[in-house]
Amino acid sequence: MHVRTHHCAQLNDTHAGQRVSLAGWVNSYRDHGGVIFIDLRDREGITQIVFHPENAEAHGLADSLRDEDVVSISGTCVARQEGMANPKLATGDIEVDADAVEILNKSLTPPFTPALANGVGEEIRLKYRFIDLRRSRMQEILRTRHQVTKIMRDYFDELGFYEIETPLLCKSTPEGARDFLVPSRINAGDFYALPQSPQLYKQVLMASGVEKYVQIAKCFRDEDPRADRQAEFTQLDLEMSFVSAQEVMDVTEGVMHRIWKGVLDVDLPKFPVMKYHEAMNRFGSDKPDLRYGLELVDVSEIVRQADFRVFTAAMEAGGIVKAICVPGGAKLTRRQTDDLAEWVKQFGVGGLPTTKVEGGKLSTGVAKFLEPVSEALLSQLQASDGDLLCFGVSEKPHVVHRALGELRVRLARELELIDQTQWRCLWVVDFPLFEHDEGSGRWSAMHHMFTSPKPEHIDILESDPGSVIGEHYDLVVNGQELCSGSIRIHNHELQQRIFSLLGYDEQVASERFGFLLEALKYGAPPHGGIAPGLDRIVMQLTGTENIRDVIAFPKTQTGADLMTQAPSPVGDDQLKELQLRPALTVKPD
Ligand code: AMO
Repeated sequence: MHVRTHHCAQLNDTHAGQRVSLAGWVNSYRDHGGVIFIDLRDREGITQIVFHPENAEAHGLADSLRDEDVVSISGTCVARQEGMANPKLATGDIEVDADAVEILNKSLTPPFTPALANGVGEEIRLKYRFIDLRRSRMQEILRTRHQVTKIMRDYFDELGFYEIETPLLCKSTPEGARDFLVPSRINAGDFYALPQSPQLYKQVLMASGVEKYVQIAKCFRDEDPRADRQAEFTQLDLEMSFVSAQEVMDVTEGVMHRIWKGVLDVDLPKFPVMKYHEAMNRFGSDKPDLRYGLELVDVSEIVRQADFRVFTAAMEAGGIVKAICVPGGAKLTRRQTDDLAEWVKQFGVGGLPTTKVEGGKLSTGVAKFLEPVSEALLSQLQASDGDLLCFGVSEKPHVVHRALGELRVRLARELELIDQTQWRCLWVVDFPLFEHDEGSGRWSAMHHMFTSPKPEHIDILESDPGSVIGEHYDLVVNGQELCSGSIRIHNHELQQRIFSLLGYDEQVASERFGFLLEALKYGAPPHGGIAPGLDRIVMQLTGTENIRDVIAFPKTQTGADLMTQAPSPVGDDQLKELQLRPALTVKPD
């Protein structure tokens, strides 16, 4: 193999006349009247290689080259002739006149080529991930991910954090999702769990006097994958002792600023803070996307005057009526608004009353019922011709918020109302500590069971759990929750009270979380932390909405790794050793 002198994005006209050796993959092959042109590709880019027939041996070998063969070549870097430069290519001013080529490995005809992968189905790309990852787009994402973790490590090192690995074989302490279980051979019948996050270990590390901990941590949750959710994903996990929520938020904001600057050369502004209730009221979401308006406006008082039964009945039952004004929405057809009305029902509302604004007046839909209040409505919603007004109505205000919040996101996308050039980051704080499940009548933790209530709310924990606010903060970027964290409970009695409130009696709590309670009893300092999702950060930076794009070897929607064919059956001997029986159900082929 020739000793590589340059990579394939390096050569330009200053190298003309130099002897060079390159190595890489055959990206494409063209024969122009006996002169063979190869686009040679490596990780960094592409260089055009030319083989003239005069150089019989090299030309003969070049003639046998096909897509994705691996070669090394030697030759002379020459400036391209007048008019032949390719401005789209970093190396477009030159080509390499090759006099030697060595075929390092032939490739079978690939199922797709990296150069022409657009439009190739994701299944085939995931099955042949090693070819897919050769694409320049995927290489760019891998590079960005590396850059991000490097920035993170440097930043936290400068601030005096220790990077500490926590176990992957853990005790099963469900944090909300289902655990992945790993059977123990030595203790047959017992199981480890893969960590849903290092939450409890990092708290124990604070009790261990570490003070500042960080880890780029693999987390595992046995949930159905979604566009921004994988069963196996990565967090930048951190925890600090003797800190306020503000200090954790400042440290997190610092690393985000540094990442955006380092990767995109973007100076993010200081992140504003919004309370949970304001976010729900104005945007119907605890992760509002601030790149567009479409705010939820409470029109209950106005529409009360109109005596429209659908509205007044809901209000009499303690409900509200909210509206969003959709700029340009009047262009939606009746069929489209009917589809929206059907779609919002999944969020608990009965439908979606709408009306358009035309000629300075309400027209179509529910216009006739709102005639008496039309002027007040138009003015409150600042609506003008061409807009569509959508109403959310329910006896339960949270249902109105949820339905209009979802509608807001959908309409902004479909009507292209999102300013894609903006970065809108914000902290959402003051979340309720608990959520009430109407079905079971039980309370559950909105974030997790270790989040501290606001000190002034400790007294009302049992008497009015619904009003307790937690010391919890989420960082939202362009409508996506990137980070979530909180100040933790460091007092074991308080932790025990929370467990009891959530329905774990002392014995169950001690079986599951005994080690944490013990650690809290022996001098645990006040502490708090956060976990930014690494995959989501890279999604934002690289502009993809598919989490699989930012993970080298991701799983499909059904949890499969199409390349390795995991998960797969195991042999009876393996099961026997673990004292497990094979699954009773046989999967259909
Ligand atoms: P939480 O569960 O909110 O908090 O997760 C923190 C962040 O991790 C990312 N994330 C995910 N990314 C991809 N796929 C998933 N399935 C997934 N689940 C979560 C998100 C999210 O904001 N222990 C706490 C953190 C703490 O309190 O310090 C925790 O795990 O970006």
